[in-house]
Amino acid sequence: MLNSIGLQNPGIEYFMQNDLPWLKKFDTKIIVNACGSSVEEYVELAKVLNTLDIDGVELNLSCPNVKSGCMAFGTSYEGVKEVTSKVRKVLDKPLIVKLTPNVTDITEPAKGAEDAGADGVSLINTLLGMSIDIEKQRPVLANNMGGLSGPAIKPVAVRMVYQVAKAVNIPVLGLGGIVNGRDVIEFMLAGATAISIGTGNFIEPEISIKAINEVEDYMKRHDIEDINTIIGQVQMN
Ligand SMILES: Cc1cc2nc3c(=O)[nH]c(=O)nc-3n(C[C@H](O)[C@H](O)[C@H](O)COP(=O)(O)O)c2cc1C
Repeated sequence: MLNSIGLQNPGIEYFMQNDLPWLKKFDTKIIVNACGSSVEEYVELAKVLNTLDIDGVELNLSCPNVKSGCMAFGTSYEGVKEVTSKVRKVLDKPLIVKLTPNVTDITEPAKGAEDAGADGVSLINTLLGMSIDIEKQRPVLANNMGGLSGPAIKPVAVRMVYQVAKAVNIPVLGLGGIVNGRDVIEFMLAGATAISIGTGNFIEPEISIKAINEVEDYMKRHDIEDINTIIGQVQMN
């Protein structure tokens, strides 16, 4: 998928009044993905999130669609360290920092998050992409460029999860193109402690449940008692 929906949303007040009460009806953990357009805005948001009945916060430092937004903080060791450490000071809840793949070396921002006290890092966000309508000779997206996601980006994501898991000592949450249990196992072998599914939900809303069942089948076939034992266990050639 190539999207340029940006990060439009009704904001934190609306979330508190409407979305959170609805989410609380389900027996599951709630991790809130948060994005601001300045360091100050991230900190303001984190202060509010700290007062809510949620299980953790994922800082989006990686969206490629916002002109002067989060991507500016997410591409360097220093940028990630600065915003993460300021948020860390006001947030007592588990803090995950989500990283952009649109960098030369993703281990650098990952180390910035770790050094600033993040509890984990998640990766990858979308890869910057572009598509051209050859009849109109104009980009397909109104925003010209957008974020590429889904199975096409999986090998890039697996590679980056592997690199980051080797470079930091905090848990890595892996995502990027996961659509079934085999993909989940691949990410865990590369070093992911947990995974997320984004684009796959547009294809099949129950994809997460199916993937869990497929992981259980894999565990039976390979005599695995505890899924944690496969984390980072890929044997390199
Ligand atoms: C329509 C759409 C909206 C997204 N919105 C967000 C967002 O608000 N915050 C964020 O951190 N990532 C966002 N992402 C990125 C995904 O969470 C994910 O990192 C990326 O798409 C790769 O995973 P996937 O291939 O499973 O989708 C969005 C992706 C898509 C396709």
